Amino acid sequence: MGKDKDYDKYCHFVFVCNGKDCCKSGAKDLQKQFSKELKDRGLKGSAKVIKTKCTGRCKEAPVAIVGQHWLGKVKESQVPIIVDELVLQKVD
Ligand code: FES
Repeated sequence: MGKDKDYDKYCHFVFVCNGKDCCKSGAKDLQKQFSKELKDRGLKGSAKVIKTKCTGRCKEAPVAIVGQHWLGKVKESQVPIIVDELVLQKVD
């Protein structure tokens, strides 16, 4: 096992691909935006953003995985609604 990250304490995970194509398409900023959004919503202790290696969907870069949802061509501006709908599961 790697470093103990105590993942059991988290209820939600957001995976952001940090492969080459996703990084070229803004994955680092996307990852920061997810972290900021989760922190701003008071979810810092219950939701975790995790970097992944290439997930094999490079044509859809940048790629994020939230719950069972694979998201492609994700824009930073979409992060609040993604958190609403897929992390907090708010439905209007
Ligand atoms: S680099 Fe992200 S899917 Fe390949």
